[in-house]
Amino acid sequence: MEKVRATRYVLPLREGGSMPGLVEADDDGMYVVKFRGAGQGLKVLVAEVVVGLLGRTIGVDVPDLVEIELPPAIARYEADEEVQDLLDASLGSNLGLDFLPGAFGYDGSRVPDAATAQAIVWLDAFTANVDRTWHNPNLLWWHDRLVAIDHGAALYFHHSWPSRAPSPERFAAQRFDASTHVLADVAGTTAVAARHEELAALLTPEVIRGVVEAAPEEWLETTADLPDADAVREAYVACLGARLAAPAAWLPGADR
Ligand SMILES: Nc1ncnc2c1ncn2[C@@H]1O[C@H](COP(=O)(O)OP(=O)(O)OP(=O)(O)O)[C@@H](O)[C@H]1O
Ligand SMILES: [Mg+2]
Repeated sequence: MEKVRATRYVLPLREGGSMPGLVEADDDGMYVVKFRGAGQGLKVLVAEVVVGLLGRTIGVDVPDLVEIELPPAIARYEADEEVQDLLDASLGSNLGLDFLPGAFGYDGSRVPDAATAQAIVWLDAFTANVDRTWHNPNLLWWHDRLVAIDHGAALYFHHSWPSRAPSPERFAAQRFDASTHVLADVAGTTAVAARHEELAALLTPEVIRGVVEAAPEEWLETTADLPDADAVREAYVACLGARLAAPAAWLPGADR
């Protein structure tokens, strides 16, 4: 990921549960920032990067991702106390997503082509992302592109790491309910299953390792079972690899 430095906090995106904010950076870019100090913690930032880059590899449109450094000065003139606390708790490395001005939320009034929908459903099933429902579509139309955002709820298994050792087998066997997916009808579950070989082939072991490597080392939380960043990375690689190799449990439309 490219690295930029925040120069100005512009405003909070109030609809986001994690209080993401709009931030200007020293490359003159404008970013939606997911803050390390938000209640959900660093793991959601890792999920955003890993799932976003996996998506990009299989042709799912996602905003460009950057690592954005928050300097202490950024919070100094912030009048809103809640925001100031969040910024103070987020000094250092955060996640930035390229801001898509004028994007509007998916509501089904305009639908993507079936191939695009299938790739998004497949990505969500593979990464166990339950956060793409009618209640919370997390898809934006931006010009002619349907852009997938908000992957913080995927890879939920990593939240159990502080208390139990990673289990690639458990993640591989975790089912996925595609029936509530906002694109289930446009994609068609049988058609998603038919795309599996093609999409899975794009996620080679090198690709999986590469997307896991993209998460900055300081976001990786060590545990008794995972004593250093390399061990944490290995755990992600093993879990993703095991699930990719065993689609029967999670692939929508697969014969069970
Ligand atoms: N790259 C972007 N460009 C433009 N708008 C964005 C972008 N990313 C997010 N948004 C807007 O901000 C809102 C919140 O973003 P996001 O869903 O990623 O945050 P969140 O805190 O995880 O939200 P929630 O928990 O409510 O799903 C989105 O619904 C969308 O309207
Ligand atoms: Mg969201």
